[in-house]
Amino acid sequence: MAAVSVFRPGLFKHKVAIVTGGGTGIGRAISVELLGLGCRVVISSRNAQRLEAAAQEMRQQIPGGSSPASVSALKCNIRNEDEVKALVSAVLERYGRIDFLVNNGGGQFPSPVEDMSSKGWTAVMDTNVNGSFHCCQQVYRAWMKEHGGAIVNIIADMWRGFPGMAHSGAARAAVDNLTKSLAIEWAPSGVRVNAVAPGTIFSRTAMENYKESGPELFKLSVPNVPAKRLGVPEEVSSAVCFLLSPGASFVSGATLRVDAGQSLYRSLWEIPDHSAWPEAPAGENRDSLQDLLNPKSKL
Ligand code: ADE
Repeated sequence: MAAVSVFRPGLFKHKVAIVTGGGTGIGRAISVELLGLGCRVVISSRNAQRLEAAAQEMRQQIPGGSSPASVSALKCNIRNEDEVKALVSAVLERYGRIDFLVNNGGGQFPSPVEDMSSKGWTAVMDTNVNGSFHCCQQVYRAWMKEHGGAIVNIIADMWRGFPGMAHSGAARAAVDNLTKSLAIEWAPSGVRVNAVAPGTIFSRTAMENYKESGPELFKLSVPNVPAKRLGVPEEVSSAVCFLLSPGASFVSGATLRVDAGQSLYRSLWEIPDHSAWPEAPAGENRDSLQDLLNPKSKL
């Protein structure tokens, strides 16, 4: 069952949104909340079959009666500029406008850099950075430049690096910076561009994506969240809806951390004890430190 939105019914009546990766996890929650608020939503991803199945399920959740909401599924590989152009054209042909773009489509896989293939690195950079770039640029050129609009980029908690998923950290940091550049470049068109950086968000699909390490990965994160629980996609979607809404009419170039303070707290990445670090410069302070940590036996 869909969570009930805190926003007023009909808030996004007559609006049109594209949500990339809108069929699963956080993207799905965003799409469902937008639909609940009367928006016409286009969900997009590479897997047409799964996307259509998700759209079918979402249609069941649209409030009955007079809601203008609708959901359609359009296949698009955001890495491919021509496919993004075609997506934007198709949306404009069908609905005649694009008010919102939510760049949620992306992906990563856990791996230390040492073991990462060039292909894996490039794929993550391509999807997250180039994909967001293509979607922003095409939507702007075809619609928002003349009519305004709001864009929200979904990034990640990568504020202290992202050890174990360095490709995603680098890519999300790039999108964070792109958000700021676009907020300035496109201000004269009345386009607001913001980002949301979720902490550890639990969803069934995310857990399944990480295969057998998924359940452990999520369970291990709990002590690192000040809230002592994980977030759920609906807690990200409400932040996205706020940034798209008139309530955020003076907000642009901002990145909203939806992480219960996790990014200010501690890292999941454990550094094993080691003695590989270069020695401190010789002197009385080093001697005292050595004494403190390894006191010489008095015997
Ligand atoms: N979600 C993850 N990868 C994607 C891609 N290449 N295109 C669209 N959505 C995606």
